[in-house]
Amino acid sequence: MNRQFGNTDLMTSPVVYGCMGGAGAFGVQEEKDSIEALREAFNIGINFFDTAEAYGDGYSEQLLGRALGDKRSELVISSKVATENLAPDDIIAACERSLKNLGTDVIDLYMLHWPNRAVPLADSIGALKTLKEAGKIRWYGVSNFGSSDIDEALALGDIAVNQLPYHLFSRAIEFEVQPKCEAAGVPIMCYSSLMQGLLAGRYKSLQDFPVSRARTRMFDSRKWAEAVHEEYGAEEAGQALLDALWTLVGDTGLSMEELAIGWLKSRPAVGGVIVGTRNATQSRDLAKLLKVKLEDSVLQALTEASDRLKEELGSDIDMWGKGRTR
Ligand SMILES: NC(=O)c1ccc[n+]([C@@H]2O[C@H](COP(=O)([O-])OP(=O)(O)OC[C@H]3O[C@@H](n4cnc5c(N)ncnc54)[C@H](OP(=O)(O)O)[C@@H]3O)[C@@H](O)[C@H]2O)c1
Repeated sequence: MNRQFGNTDLMTSPVVYGCMGGAGAFGVQEEKDSIEALREAFNIGINFFDTAEAYGDGYSEQLLGRALGDKRSELVISSKVATENLAPDDIIAACERSLKNLGTDVIDLYMLHWPNRAVPLADSIGALKTLKEAGKIRWYGVSNFGSSDIDEALALGDIAVNQLPYHLFSRAIEFEVQPKCEAAGVPIMCYSSLMQGLLAGRYKSLQDFPVSRARTRMFDSRKWAEAVHEEYGAEEAGQALLDALWTLVGDTGLSMEELAIGWLKSRPAVGGVIVGTRNATQSRDLAKLLKVKLEDSVLQALTEASDRLKEELGSDIDMWGKGRTR
């Protein structure tokens, strides 16, 4: 089931385990649950694990090392250096910290987490090259790099990945970034693939979604206290999509997660679909997502159901509307 990740020599599962929730991103999280969730994800066949120094200030990396350190040779680990650490010396120091947190001597895929305009990108990429030559990382890439950012990165180096927000409720990358990644042979790792749970088949209405997660540009900033953007959202189109998804769940007999992840797996340039879970029970469900392959008619219905929302939200790939990408 594992296949080559882009132009690298890494053999990876199509579903990637996302380690951010283990560090408490979605509320109180027991360490025991996080460890069991990680182990169960490995047991059902996932070998690709995504983390970052920013997730709990290294705690997420430590958890991964503790849960699956004994399986290190069977894992592909991706981690990211935080935006504020993109100066060359800071990248080198951050990588050393991450290696220690993970309890390993090499990171398979190391990414710049977000662009940082205060540091020339050539300097950051230079540090990544140095780390690769020193054998501290196997491959490097970027995350949250928009249309102009990815042009700049591609001109500078051997970019092995662009990790991007991509799911049925957020298709902004399709306007420019995804075609550029596809043309350059750069695989996309999709994040928030379940829209932080909205695509996990538990909500009938957008209004039921936890306010702490209703921060993306789809939500009206006048109504949702934690949205920091100043946009009016696209909630009507979002609710219409959610309704259409429930209809498809009924018509196909598939779960909403299978529809959401099956659709992502079929999209151009997608090299991995990241999903986060909170416990072993949720991780067990990932087995279905590893296998799912949707019929063309279902793929088309999903694309059409989300076209209106895509057009209304437009091409800003920063899901949270903080103006960090270009
Ligand atoms: N590069 C970046 O800037 C960036 C940004 C964000 C995320 N990421 C990566 O992407 C990963 C995943 O994205 P995400 O954290 O935004 O979340 P996500 O994968 O879209 O959603 C995770 C949530 O979905 C729900 N869920 C998952 N499996 C379920 C199941 N079987 N049944 C019911 N609910 C289920 C859980 O919600 P409950 O908590 O309600 O149980 C879980 O917390 C992160 O861990 C991280 O690795 C990267």
